[in-house]
Amino acid sequence: MQNFINRNYVWASLSSIFICISVLTYLVNATFAIKVSVYLGVIFLVLTMLPTNILKLNLSFLSNYKNIIITGVRFRRDAGIICGFLFATHSIMSIVYFYGFSLDFLFSKEIFLGTTALIVFLLLLVTSNLFSMKFLGKWWKELHKTLWIIIPVVLVHSIVASLAFEGEISKLGLLSFGFIMAFTIIELVIQYSKNAKIKTTYHSIYTIIGLIASVAITIFFLLSQSK
Ligand code: HEM
Repeated sequence: MQNFINRNYVWASLSSIFICISVLTYLVNATFAIKVSVYLGVIFLVLTMLPTNILKLNLSFLSNYKNIIITGVRFRRDAGIICGFLFATHSIMSIVYFYGFSLDFLFSKEIFLGTTALIVFLLLLVTSNLFSMKFLGKWWKELHKTLWIIIPVVLVHSIVASLAFEGEISKLGLLSFGFIMAFTIIELVIQYSKNAKIKTTYHSIYTIIGLIASVAITIFFLLSQSK
């Protein structure tokens, strides 16, 4: 029991606090709360993805910060779960605010990519436990790699949705998800310049696949709309 509490208290307490903050903000200003939840989530997404990958790059100028990065690696599961809950909060708030409890969002072209991202994040969230890790075996890692495909999907979703609902492109969405995508290129450049034996090519390949798929879907929707 003590083990169970030790493994889960960080994400459980922080998720509750951040969800409460988002809900309270929603009661005052719903559109702002929709942004607050998603950007708090982005902070934890970056904390989930970057420390492990930065550590692997073994960069000499970061050697003084190694302990901080290792702490980040230790808490990456907590950060991942918190970001999953915050993205789910953003999705639920958006559905309630813009679609009023109806299932219309499922057929909305503006939201299709967001719904796709939500399904993937929920899958990752429910499998973020020891039982799922043991049950899925090597497939667990494969499933969790899909995060890299979904980053560009969210980037395109943030552009399409903010244009449709606010009339302007979300700069923060562009910056935050663009930064994670740019990291995959920087990572490859560093690995090639250091002649690293193992190069992490799947990060960039997956993000390119996600980008091509989401741009193609968006163009398809635009063309079918103009007919
Ligand atoms: C069913 C699922 C989802 C729905 C209904 C939805 C809905 C929306 C809506 C309506 C907006 C425009 C809000 C505005 O500009 O005022 C938006 C923006 C955004 N969404 Fe989603 N979303 C969903 C899932 C997701 C997921 C899973 C993520 C992240 C992983 C995400 C990330 C973003 C981002 C970054 C923005 C831009 C926010 C801004 O700066 O304006 N969305 N979403």
